[in-house]
Amino acid sequence: MNRRTLLTRIVQGFSITGLGFVTYPFLKAWVPSFGQDLGLEIDVSELAPGESKIVHWLGRNLHVIRRTNETIASLTSAEQPLKDPESLESAQPIFATNAYRSLRADIFVGFSNCTHLGCDVVKQDKGFKCPCHQSDYDAAGRVVEGAAAPLNLEVPNYRYISGNLLKLEPSDASDA
Ligand code: FES
Repeated sequence: MNRRTLLTRIVQGFSITGLGFVTYPFLKAWVPSFGQDLGLEIDVSELAPGESKIVHWLGRNLHVIRRTNETIASLTSAEQPLKDPESLESAQPIFATNAYRSLRADIFVGFSNCTHLGCDVVKQDKGFKCPCHQSDYDAAGRVVEGAAAPLNLEVPNYRYISGNLLKLEPSDASDA
């Protein structure tokens, strides 16, 4: 490498670095989430079977539930007719395209918004009910036949970062 090439590379390096310093503040101002970790950690260790809690994330509520063994068994027994039993039309990460709609059979995580007009659903013994037009969902957030809601509750993207600690993370995968 001759001296001229070396100088050119140095100038290019400074230019790229400078461009980064100049554009970063603008990106941060225009896109508030730029460079931030929007993930949310949820400890599920305090939930006994049958217990649940609601968490708030990215402006929406989510239900986090530890299902009982009886509830888990009911999800594979086709107790009631469902609109989208295989979740082929509904929104969830690929890992949740199963009867439990979750990574672990005992822990369900799902957005609270009814897929009809977005009301917050209420947890019940055997699933969820929408107070607005009475749509019923099972304990995996799958909508029951005859409901006004067209699709299953949306499941967010998440992963377990340790035994009972999961982390919600924004991801395009939730559109899968
Ligand atoms: S908004 Fe839930 S059934 Fe209409």
